[in-house]
Amino acid sequence: MHKDCEYILVSEEKIKELVKDLAHRIDEDYKDKNLLLVGLLKGSVVFMSDLMKEITIDCKIDFMCASSYGAGTESSGRVNIVKDLSQPINGLDVLIVEDIIDSGNTLTFIKKYLDAKGAGSIKICTLLSKPDRRVVDIPIDYLGVEIPDEFVIGYGLDYAEKYRNLPYVGVLKRSVYS
Ligand code: IMP
Ligand code: MG
Repeated sequence: MHKDCEYILVSEEKIKELVKDLAHRIDEDYKDKNLLLVGLLKGSVVFMSDLMKEITIDCKIDFMCASSYGAGTESSGRVNIVKDLSQPINGLDVLIVEDIIDSGNTLTFIKKYLDAKGAGSIKICTLLSKPDRRVVDIPIDYLGVEIPDEFVIGYGLDYAEKYRNLPYVGVLKRSVYS
């Protein structure tokens, strides 16, 4: 375990299980649709790559980068689009792939934005959710697991751009950020 990690919250084995279950559900639900996976950079890259390998139906992928966080651990509430989609999404069935839903601000904004771009349907798939932190209500169509109100790192998730490469999700030691 990394020295800045207090404990492991979701192990590599558990993540594999969750990803497989989500992919099977997506396979089933999207078999007659035009699936476009939209990963939100950078946090979703690890989840996105594992998830897409488990999905067996035809799909396209794209990425967007929206920022709501600075270097700290609290959401700013403001969302900026740093990188937009690379193709039109008219009529496509968009599945947003996110690492974690915290306040819900990012996804609320992105969902409206993709809707305005003419997506045929828009659903949300997130590996993690912190329900205690929600500020805006947002329906989650595909959820890996709910976690307590702790700042987590690993499996794509960062603190000040570090720890994304850890293969598990762990709780960051408070001494690192306080
Ligand atoms: P929201 O807009 O507050 O829902 O924030 C979503 C984004 O905040 C996620 O995509 C993450 O990038 C980041 N985030 C929220 N909680 C954590 C955490 O515990 N660790 C690392 N990043 C987090
Ligand atoms: Mg993110």
